[in-house]
Amino acid sequence: MKAIVFDLDGTLTDSACGIIRAVRYAIDKMQVEMPSDELISKFLGPPLALSFREYMGFNHEEAVKATEYYREVYNTEYWKYNKVYPGIRQLLISLKKNGHRLYVVTGKPMAIANKVITHFKLDHFFDRVIGPDENQYYDGKCASLNAALNGNKNAIMVGDRASDILGAREYGIPVVYTLYGYGSIEEYNKFGADFIVNNVEELYDVLNCPKAKYKGYFISIEGNDGSGKSTQRDLLRDKLVNFGFDVYATREPGGTPLSEKIRGLLLDRENNSMTSLTEAYLFASARAQHVEEVIMPAINRGELVLSDRFVDSSVAYQGAGHELGMDIVAKLNAPAVNGAMPDTTVYLDLPFENAMRRRQENSKADRIELYDYSFHERAQNAFHKLVKDNPERFISVDAAGDAETISENIFARVIERLIDKEKVLCG
Ligand code: TYD
Repeated sequence: MKAIVFDLDGTLTDSACGIIRAVRYAIDKMQVEMPSDELISKFLGPPLALSFREYMGFNHEEAVKATEYYREVYNTEYWKYNKVYPGIRQLLISLKKNGHRLYVVTGKPMAIANKVITHFKLDHFFDRVIGPDENQYYDGKCASLNAALNGNKNAIMVGDRASDILGAREYGIPVVYTLYGYGSIEEYNKFGADFIVNNVEELYDVLNCPKAKYKGYFISIEGNDGSGKSTQRDLLRDKLVNFGFDVYATREPGGTPLSEKIRGLLLDRENNSMTSLTEAYLFASARAQHVEEVIMPAINRGELVLSDRFVDSSVAYQGAGHELGMDIVAKLNAPAVNGAMPDTTVYLDLPFENAMRRRQENSKADRIELYDYSFHERAQNAFHKLVKDNPERFISVDAAGDAETISENIFARVIERLIDKEKVLCG
């Protein structure tokens, strides 16, 4: 049971994009010539004021001024460009599950570090977060390590820069140097660390922790044609990926080579003699292949599956739209679904007339979209019934308004469920 101390930037989160933008902003404000990209990339990692002095030749006052400019944009806006490295969430879950205590010790001001950790919902993993106080002299990582660990030496530091190596050495604990961050093999060779890793996966061995195996999570996203589903699916996927979730995005009908061929049959406007029952079976058979070949394996690997439509579409469109019966279509699909019901279904609720209007603007309507008004109206009513009957599973979202606001709303509700699950997994 060790204390494991992580650096933040370049170890847990990738903040390159926001930092580089903010450094450029500060240099621009200082009215000096913009240096090369290569030189600006050196700002990633070490304390800022130091970088302004070392790389820009600023004196103390200039470095302080430039740092102020930097903070003006980074602390308010640009920090949001951060991303959690892929694999980090699973690593943190595994470490917690194994009883380790986790800490963050960073060169970033404590307030901003906390903001990043809270924003990315990483706070439940850490016992303590220590960083410099913006208004006080920063006396380095060793002092911060002491503040985090209270002298405990049964610990290991994981970081990506010389300051991490030197701080850990001074404090008297081993250090793992992460090459996937902003460090380099040259820096490692110069300062030497106890361990070096090329990627997050290699941390399991070095930290002597087995990778936790757990069932993934299944999210489907539903809505009438014209509800903005594809846009919302993409925005949700991007946000989840930035938060470090291992997302497998897929769609129905489709998601496997064979299911995509069935999709072709289903949506082809030439197949206008297709009976309702044929249609229902074709959707179900595409689904059977999708579940077995793609969805179940991904869930068993611990991934987060995000499917654009799933069985609720069949229940609504074929069951209610074609009046085959919602129950009958649900039963017909049961062997195809094979127990793999979504943990969460996001339903985009758009007043029927709005969806209809958007649909009519779409000149490339597929075979299903060409069904008449009453078909789509019945499908929408069926979705409402499904939402009402399954309040635990569904997240129903008002889909009128601007895409980013709708996306924020969806994300806030989805992430709450994912974090609840993560907390259970951590034990
Ligand atoms: P989709 O690819 O979501 O189309 P769009 O992006 O244009 O909304 O779905 C294609 C069509 O198939 C859509 O009209 C809904 C319909 N559909 C069903 O009727 N039953 C089903 O089981 C599924 C998955 C989709």
